[in-house]
Amino acid sequence: MIDVKKVRQDFPIFKQKVHGKLLIYLDNAATSQRPLQVIQAMNEYYLMYNANVHRGIYSLSEKATKEYEEVREKVAEFINAKSPEEIIFVKNTTEGINLVAHSWGRSNVKKGEKILITEMEHHSNFVPWQILAEEKEACLDFIKMDDEGLLMTECLERMDEETRIVSITHASNVLGTINSVREITRLAHKVGAIVLVDAAQSVPHMPVDVQEIDSDFLAFSGHKMLGPTGIGVLYGKKGLLDGIEPFMSGGDMISEVHFGDNAKWNETPWKFEAGTPNIAGTIGLGAAIDYLNGIGMKDIREHEKDLTGYALKEMVKIEGAEVYGPKDSELRAGVVAFNLRGIDPHDLASILDSEGIAIRAGHHCAQPLMDRLGLRTTARASFYIYNTKEEVDALTNVLKRVRRR
Ligand SMILES: Cc1ncc(COP(=O)(O)O)c(C=O)c1O
Repeated sequence: MIDVKKVRQDFPIFKQKVHGKLLIYLDNAATSQRPLQVIQAMNEYYLMYNANVHRGIYSLSEKATKEYEEVREKVAEFINAKSPEEIIFVKNTTEGINLVAHSWGRSNVKKGEKILITEMEHHSNFVPWQILAEEKEACLDFIKMDDEGLLMTECLERMDEETRIVSITHASNVLGTINSVREITRLAHKVGAIVLVDAAQSVPHMPVDVQEIDSDFLAFSGHKMLGPTGIGVLYGKKGLLDGIEPFMSGGDMISEVHFGDNAKWNETPWKFEAGTPNIAGTIGLGAAIDYLNGIGMKDIREHEKDLTGYALKEMVKIEGAEVYGPKDSELRAGVVAFNLRGIDPHDLASILDSEGIAIRAGHHCAQPLMDRLGLRTTARASFYIYNTKEEVDALTNVLKRVRRR
């Protein structure tokens, strides 16, 4: 199990008081905190070997390039990609999905064909497909879920020859539901569709193996996994990436360009990384992966499952509390969305803030899901490696007090 006390030493933010109380941070689905090791790795780049990558022949640039490219190898290993060339550095999950929608989608989705997503998608994995469907006069269809937030298997069997892409979240940022992406990929491939997995809420929290899932693309964000903001990853199968056009163009992504001629693209994955990349951010992501590996992704998953199971058990005891998503913590990630009858979630978040507890309130960038649930907003607590059962108790104690009042 995780030595949480030791882990917390690496996060100076937890020594801070908010409204006179030690910070309890329960908004990890939005963004995680960063350990000293990540900040130090980025500082070291800026202080000791700051230079652009892939350009200079001098030592500093060679060192920066080496460190940057080594993170590509580290990411490939972390998600078990076949090679580092399958790893594209992007800004975040949103950019990764947009890259696929533009580069692959524009040349592969045709009038009348189907794009399949689920009812529980984050806007990042909804709006790009809505735009593409409109542009191509394609059909955007949805895999439905039951009232517990589990995908309905009979809807999975509705995938047909018209389906070009299935784009699904691995773990819902509201319900916590962990979807069986491996099975969905198997069914999609049977009808000739490709699959994109939105792994924003899974890669930071559990072991993810892209070869086992067999998805064609998979996207995630560094800032939700102890890394800095502004860096994310799009994984894509090499053969597929080789065959598609870049999303953005400019420096570094070309091999040759002259007056009059069409430019020739650089090789995969560099043809997708136009302009100076987020070098410090990439180096920070590498340090975050080292940190997560040092703890172990299996233990991280167990720790969060334990916390989530405990939170669910305690929350259902609170009169007037409604908790959304699967009841079994085995089927869900460390995200607990809830409402307290008669109390606006924003007011609740504000009261909790006055006790030093940070949670999220709102639609969580999943308005279609809110429509499906017949809700406008919810409160949401989400956990990570540094959270404890005592913090869950602090949360539920305030909820009980608010309820009594
Ligand atoms: C499931 C899911 N997908 C996509 C995103 C978008 O991530 P980013 O804002 O880092 O692009 C989020 C962010 O909360 C998310 O939870």
